[in-house]
Amino acid sequence: TLAKVYFQEPFDEFNTATRWVHSKARPDYGEWELSTGALVADPLVNQGLRSMTNDSHYALAAPLEQPFHTKGKTLVLQYSVRFDKVIDCSGAYIKLFPVDLDPEQMNNESPYHVMFGPDLCGSSHSVKVLLGHKGKNYDIKKPISPINDQLTHLYTLILYPDLSYKVLVDNKIKAEGTIAKDWSFIQPKMIEDKTAKKPKDWDDRAMIDDPEDQPPENYENQPEEIPDPNAVKPEDWDEEMDGEWEAPMIDNPDRMIWFPQSIPNPNYQGVWKAPMIDNPDYEEDPDVATYNIGYVGFELWQVTPGTIMDNIVITDSVKHARQVAEETWSKFRKAERKAKKALDVERGLVMNDRAYADDDNDGDDAENSNFKGGLSLANDDFTFVEESVQKVDIGSESQELDENSKAQEQAPAQAIPVEQDGQQPSKPTQDIPPQAPVVDSDDTTTVTKPLKAQDEKRETIATYEKPSGVPVQAKDGAEDLPEQELPTVPLHDEL
Ligand SMILES: *[C@@H]1O[C@H](CO)[C@@H](O)[C@H](O)[C@H]1NC(C)=O
Repeated sequence: TLAKVYFQEPFDEFNTATRWVHSKARPDYGEWELSTGALVADPLVNQGLRSMTNDSHYALAAPLEQPFHTKGKTLVLQYSVRFDKVIDCSGAYIKLFPVDLDPEQMNNESPYHVMFGPDLCGSSHSVKVLLGHKGKNYDIKKPISPINDQLTHLYTLILYPDLSYKVLVDNKIKAEGTIAKDWSFIQPKMIEDKTAKKPKDWDDRAMIDDPEDQPPENYENQPEEIPDPNAVKPEDWDEEMDGEWEAPMIDNPDRMIWFPQSIPNPNYQGVWKAPMIDNPDYEEDPDVATYNIGYVGFELWQVTPGTIMDNIVITDSVKHARQVAEETWSKFRKAERKAKKALDVERGLVMNDRAYADDDNDGDDAENSNFKGGLSLANDDFTFVEESVQKVDIGSESQELDENSKAQEQAPAQAIPVEQDGQQPSKPTQDIPPQAPVVDSDDTTTVTKPLKAQDEKRETIATYEKPSGVPVQAKDGAEDLPEQELPTVPLHDEL
């Protein structure tokens, strides 16, 4: 099936004659302009729709190319937002409206299916993800933080037909899971049996003390304290007055401390979980979280204007949305950071270089090559962008990539980790430099490492195909092989 793009708006122009409709529901709606704002990385690509008016409501909508009925389809809603000014209190979210919206009368009461994007007011900052259900809208239960700085950030919402979802900010997954779990309007089909109790004899100890491991002899009889052997009876000690002199007690320095070895518990049953049962409140609703979308728009209240909306995409294809992101946001994000730095210098607001670090962790950020973790510049403090968050990787393109890299991991050189007697050789590590190879046959070479100095035996750490061009000598001479001619031992972390 072909990907369908129901709406795409790069804001190269702001077409109010044929596309965008200003609502007339109030006489005083705020105005919009096409602008790059203060930060210009690329005057054309960076241009977006910028809100202009202080302390205003905004209401603007445009019809989709054709209504998008999401049943059985993936809904991808993506757009970018930049706060050109430091935001006091402003919404910057986007809404998807039903087909029967009258855009000229659109207002804050107009029913909508989806509301998605950042909302900042005072200290309350969140990414809203509201979904409609039977005339009401429900926000996601997981908190998602918007990135509050003056750079462009990409917001992507994906609702899959199996009622799972993903929320991405700057192509990083910020929330994912199922609609049933993370919104309150769908009852899950199965729930945990709350009445179930963990059986008394359930063994959830992963490790236990080794019953075979006995304390050393005399362990029980060791005194904890002994009289201080270095103590000397004071010269003026008077036995009649003071009683018999005794040395003060000190901790017994020879006392052995012993703990039994921990071993895996052979009777370990795992972590106990209550069994799942049918949820009595579950209702079969084939249309839950499916929408018939006719319009997209902004219906906002902004104290501080200057939010720049750009590159709206509404499609059933994650891959298409990613492509748009790559051609727009990904392209200028580095340049934008540079422009931000230049602008801050101009304004006398030079921040630590880290503030401008590219946070994609791809190591190509020359000024910050040692910097990992990614800080992005916030208004007056640093916002940490979690390093651990996965990069987006959905869509067939990246899956292919993943599969390729898997194949590469599995394919290569590591021919042979099994010894003749069927023992796994121990894992070679960087700490144990391989010693001279010993020739076993024409085709394989065994690398050994010496055990302890006094130990004649050598332990096999790995065998590998004989690399061509490496002179392998007879067994006797193996020890004399010059070091630089040693073939490298491949390190297999997954042996
Ligand atoms: C909008 O608000 C800002 C900040 O309070 C102020 O400097 C500016 O003059 C205001 N603009 C208008 C048109 O009132």
